[in-house]
Amino acid sequence: MLVLGIETSCDETSAALVDGARIVSSVVLSQLDHAPYGGVVPELASRAHLRTLVPVVRQCLAQGGLELAQVDGIAVTCGPGLVGSLLVGLSMAKGLALSAGKPLIGVHHLEGHIFSNLLGSDLEPPFLVLLVSGGHTELVTVAELGHYRCLGRTRDDAAGEAFDKVAKVLGLLPPGQVVAGGRAVSTWAAKGDPAAIAFPRAMSGGPGFDFSFSGLKTAVLNYARGLRPGELEQQLPDIAASFQEAVVDALVQTTLRAQADSGMGAVALAGGVAANTLLRQRLQEACQQRGARFHCPPLPLCTDNAAMIAAVGHHYLRLGRVAGLDLDVDPRLRLGAD
Ligand code: KG4
Ligand code: ZN
Repeated sequence: MLVLGIETSCDETSAALVDGARIVSSVVLSQLDHAPYGGVVPELASRAHLRTLVPVVRQCLAQGGLELAQVDGIAVTCGPGLVGSLLVGLSMAKGLALSAGKPLIGVHHLEGHIFSNLLGSDLEPPFLVLLVSGGHTELVTVAELGHYRCLGRTRDDAAGEAFDKVAKVLGLLPPGQVVAGGRAVSTWAAKGDPAAIAFPRAMSGGPGFDFSFSGLKTAVLNYARGLRPGELEQQLPDIAASFQEAVVDALVQTTLRAQADSGMGAVALAGGVAANTLLRQRLQEACQQRGARFHCPPLPLCTDNAAMIAAVGHHYLRLGRVAGLDLDVDPRLRLGAD
């Protein structure tokens, strides 16, 4: 069964064809429009999706050597995300579904990130997943596909958001290029000493499995502001490395506590921050030490992509759970048990 996926929730315009756990073709276009602003500008994002989504879908079908008529269903992200961007994707998906007479499947973006672990892999529930993206930081148990329980989440900034803000304020983003804040921080961190500065750990301090990154972010900004002229440039690698160390440490420690508490034998990583090399290594080592299976998606499937959306669509299409053409977007859609 072949599903066409469409993802436009933020600043990646993407289409993919997926057959079960197999990616038949995939196109991801990262928008360049936001580079001068140091962050995603919602209106520019919607307009860029409007310009590029049709060519991206065409390219995806051509890459797979397939026509729309051969597709069994059309899956599209309907939330959470930027409302204008989501509307462009959903309108496109509805148009295709209507014109080709195909079923439409509305997909939760975070469920897509969870499913990115299942593409090309034999991972099966139950497992615990650490979802770390630009908008979310959550620890979720997957009892079975479609049945999710959130054990903890960030009380303020998402991990990716903290990476992005620190990269922006410290001026780590290469001028004129589109590089994720997290990637820029980790590139600088590779040249620095992670033990140079003792930043506070991004823990919520409570007994549960929540996170809090705003205190850490403020500590980094205050540290940078307290430096004399010239010192900041010199210390950038150490600041980046020490900040990254504090984020990764908090993510790994809390995930391990949740793993022990939930008794899950497998731990997965998902979301854009799952592309962070240090996080992948640390969590893998920690899981290995306690005999738990560890899984993380290949790098291109960590950040936003339509293959993960098509994979979710495939699952629900098989179950016959399709949407009507009155499907709407929800920028704050929650990932709930059902
Ligand atoms: O999942 P994603 O592509 O979009 C959202 O759904 O938010 O995640 C984007 C986030 C950004 O905050 C970006 O800075 C972060 O993922 N990111 C990274 C790395 N690559 C992307 N964070 C840390 N290290 C990386 N290598
Ligand atoms: Zn995402």
